[in-house]
Amino acid sequence: MARILTGIQSSGRPHLGNILGAILPGIELSRDPQNESFFFIADLHSLTTLKNGTEREEYVRAVAASWLAFGFDFNKNTFWRQSRVQEHTELAWYLNCFTPFPMLANATSFKEKAEKLSDVNAGLFTYPVLQAADILLYDANIIPVGKDQKQHLEMTKDIASRFNLLAGEEILVLPEPRIDERIMTIPGIDGQKMSKSYNNYIDIFLPENELKKVIKKIVSDSKQLEEPKDPEQDITFKLYSLVASDTDIAAMRQNYLNGGYGYGHAKQALLECMLEKFAEPRRIFNYYMENNDELESILIQGEAKARAIAQTTIEKVRKVLGFSS
Ligand code: TYM
Repeated sequence: MARILTGIQSSGRPHLGNILGAILPGIELSRDPQNESFFFIADLHSLTTLKNGTEREEYVRAVAASWLAFGFDFNKNTFWRQSRVQEHTELAWYLNCFTPFPMLANATSFKEKAEKLSDVNAGLFTYPVLQAADILLYDANIIPVGKDQKQHLEMTKDIASRFNLLAGEEILVLPEPRIDERIMTIPGIDGQKMSKSYNNYIDIFLPENELKKVIKKIVSDSKQLEEPKDPEQDITFKLYSLVASDTDIAAMRQNYLNGGYGYGHAKQALLECMLEKFAEPRRIFNYYMENNDELESILIQGEAKARAIAQTTIEKVRKVLGFSS
């Protein structure tokens, strides 16, 4: 029996990178009857960048609705909002005191923003410690994530080992990341990593006309319609390869190589493929976005399950540290 755990920040509506990098691999693992899955909404992490509470609530709903849209079984598994289980912040504090400063100063997530230190809040700096707490609270074994999270997982293991060394036993379970080599990093419409912060993402839940506008903006070179094109160098083709069937990918590759096939054609094919492939998730997503009470009661049910496990771990940690009653 393996415990699978992953989280998505509520700093925006989930995009294609989140879906292919975390949601789909997570759900696939959760379908194995041998596994027990813990998927949560990292709303505390979102506070490091997003301060507006109304927006956060909306994005929490969107993240939750996305998991459900792709068929996550919340009855068999555990599904909750991080902020509602206070043990996350309690464990994060303890672990902060086991985390060397240089480890955090080396985190890519911090270094990316370190040019302007006055813009870096302490929460952003200690972000990986809260993430370690999220994972270690639940004795999680496998963490399905995108490649950008690899360093955070290494830090989690390092922090847990330091704590276990003090405890003299394996109180905290060391997790392993699960990163799908084929979809390690999904490109955005400009070819960089797809990210909310680069504003280059594809929100597959947008209404058709808006989704079309985003897809139209995918960057391409200036080759004319009749010229042959290199599929491997093109962002639209890369995105199509991530969502289309093998036969359709092969057909598009051939069209690129033959020439007489424009980027506009490829973008239209990508749009149609997404609308077809994601038709059911789009319907379910909209349903939950409109039925907030139902979503809320699913999350409340999950919070109780998560809390019960988190409390067991925190009790063991308190005992080691002399905080037990
Ligand atoms: P977040 O919300 O930034 O991303 C959520 C998940 O989506 C993956 N991802 C991508 N995968 C492939 N290509 C992309 N372009 C892409 N963009 C995002 C991320 O790798 C991630 O798996 N720190 C986490 C949230 C978190 C967490 C945790 C994850 C908090 N606590 C505990 C796992 C376990 C994050 O950045 O989420």
